[in-house]
Amino acid sequence: MVGTEKTTFPTGFKFGVGTASYQIEGGWNEEGKGENIWDRMTHSKPDTVEKRHNGDVACDSYHKYKDDIKMLEDLGVDFYRFSFSWSRILPTGFANKINPDGIRYYNNLIDGLIARGIEPMGTMFHWDLPQPLQELGGWQNEALVDYFTDYAKVLFENFGDRVKTWFTFNEPWVIAALSHGGVGLAPATHSPGVGVYLVGQTILKSHARAYHLYQESFKSKQEGRLSMVIHWFGYVPKTDSPEDVAVAEKAKQFKFGWFAHPIFSAEGDYPKVMKDAIAKKSAEQGFPRSRLPVLGKYWVDLIRGTADFIAVNTYTSLLAVPNPDTTEPSWVNDCGVKLTNDGLGWPESVCFWHKENAVEFGNMFRWLRNEYGDREIIVTENGWPEDGSSKHEDWERIRYTHRYLEELLTAIHRDKINITGYTHWSLMDNFEWLQGYTMRFGLYYVDFEDPSRPRTIKKSGEYYRELISKRRLPEKFNEELFASDKKFAKRINLCVSTHGKETFFLS
Ligand code: NOJ
Repeated sequence: MVGTEKTTFPTGFKFGVGTASYQIEGGWNEEGKGENIWDRMTHSKPDTVEKRHNGDVACDSYHKYKDDIKMLEDLGVDFYRFSFSWSRILPTGFANKINPDGIRYYNNLIDGLIARGIEPMGTMFHWDLPQPLQELGGWQNEALVDYFTDYAKVLFENFGDRVKTWFTFNEPWVIAALSHGGVGLAPATHSPGVGVYLVGQTILKSHARAYHLYQESFKSKQEGRLSMVIHWFGYVPKTDSPEDVAVAEKAKQFKFGWFAHPIFSAEGDYPKVMKDAIAKKSAEQGFPRSRLPVLGKYWVDLIRGTADFIAVNTYTSLLAVPNPDTTEPSWVNDCGVKLTNDGLGWPESVCFWHKENAVEFGNMFRWLRNEYGDREIIVTENGWPEDGSSKHEDWERIRYTHRYLEELLTAIHRDKINITGYTHWSLMDNFEWLQGYTMRFGLYYVDFEDPSRPRTIKKSGEYYRELISKRRLPEKFNEELFASDKKFAKRINLCVSTHGKETFFLS
């Protein structure tokens, strides 16, 4: 099948890799950077992260960004999706004091990328909120809409002449439901049935305000595009029964639709199934009104249509089964769905929430089109974790990427879905939040024991480089991929027997 349509990417399709500031930069208090909520949590409660790891040094990209650019050039990527550290640019979070060294750092990075023909794509917020804003209540406080918009303005003013693709937020569901739902991601707030929805609302409003600011004051000159990166989880019904199908569908609306429906649907606002379920549960629990605050016509209208394309992160799928528990007011119980990996037999990774299910990846594109019409879609993250026991031979990652990209190509060629880009997560191993450096997603291996943080390309990096240079799925890896199947089969058996229990998966 050398170069058949089935294995070839269309002209103009873009390949990239992603990272995020707290996960790679280090330099946590250098040259004027202020404290953010991850600095605070990892310093004050070090046990919250595996092995007491933190992002103080991380991959040391604050000093080694030139190495990062060389690696990107070597991979041949079309774009690099990185995030700005709010507290490096505005040390207190407020726009009255801009840190010139922070501006200089990102200017150097962006200029270095452009000089090598790599397009910079910038995420404004990838979870590292300045600590002083957290002192005000963080995203639960609607005042952050203004402060985020001020920050967005500083970014547009300083970098918008060169950054043409912007993402306001990364994975708002994680920020709302995990960081405020008691799971332990910073700021590790526990308000699973009330705070989570306040956070979601502030994020949607902040996103919309930044989008409109760009349209009104920057778009005509800078000609860039904006979206919000929303996290997709493939919820698979346990059986084909209408009840099970409805449960899985409801979960998709509760997770993806929570943020996508207000932006991409024709009517705007939260999905009806979500509004109804939360109102009902709130009443049953004795709340005088729904815990999901009303957006109201002004905001529904302001939020609707505020994205130029769909930006979606996705990694995995799980079975969705009904969860009748209504006792605790929480997103989980409002959603009414429990996730289970019981007996799935899908290839498992070393990570408790991550399995391979390429077919569901393909189904995601079809669901998005059915739900929001024919829109451009960019996959802004996709990747596979391992524990680093093999520094170079990461066959599972290659196999996963290969299978997922086969499905992506089917969605493009057979279903004619307008997918224009794919972002592998991640350029290199980095700080994987509560898992610290124990879980690795990189195409490059990083030695975190070595103070100079050397990076070496993995087999998957070579695979990706080959794929990008040919613009089609590499054939020369197929034979080796097949050989790796045997190892894989072993892993599947092992995982089914060790992880075959019902669990609630959050990510
Ligand atoms: C999504 C997040 O955006 C990223 O920060 C994280 O490292 C990956 N998922 C892998 O868990």
